[in-house]
Amino acid sequence: MNPLDISPVIPVVVLDDPGKAVPLARALLDGGIGIIEVTLRSAAALPAIERIAAELPDMAVGAGTILTPAQAAAATSAGARFLVSPGVTATLLQALADTGLPCLPGVSTVSQILTVLEHGMTDMKFFPAESSGGTKALQSFNGPLPHVRFCPTGGITPATASDYLALPNVGCVGGSWLTPDSVINDADWPRIRRLAAEAAALPRATS
Ligand code: 3PG
Repeated sequence: MNPLDISPVIPVVVLDDPGKAVPLARALLDGGIGIIEVTLRSAAALPAIERIAAELPDMAVGAGTILTPAQAAAATSAGARFLVSPGVTATLLQALADTGLPCLPGVSTVSQILTVLEHGMTDMKFFPAESSGGTKALQSFNGPLPHVRFCPTGGITPATASDYLALPNVGCVGGSWLTPDSVINDADWPRIRRLAAEAAALPRATS
């Protein structure tokens, strides 16, 4: 399983109620999005990952906002199938590699990309994408580093996603626009399904 190859967009989700996890993930799946990143920014995140992993085997559930080795281990135990971090340290990279799961370590500079490559990983999250140079930065990375693929995330919208997805070194983009807090709070699953269907239809250069 490679998280970059599943859907054009990885929905980046903050959940406060683990009871919403399965209906939310089911709505994304029904809309054609087969992947979800549940960020470890709330106490609900690990139970949410557990429930999605147990009840929706067709959904690739991952854990995001991994900041420490302990969080990498806890997310793995909860059943996460991939791990995402917003940035890197040598310690965190080693912990991510030790899980054996597909990982998207967060980078925004060439030196950070080289550090991740030293740990044997070639797929990364480009974060925060818009404020770190956006598509121009990714085009610049592709000259010396054409073997590295990215999931740009941070400030990407439905209007700008296509520009990123047209790049040869972008597998998919990440974004929170598919799962707005207000829509989750209202349990408006048909709305999530429509947002997912629009995102699933975005064309990719590399698929
Ligand atoms: C992330 O954690 O990856 C970002 O907060 C998501 O960025 P966005 O809210 O700008 O889509």
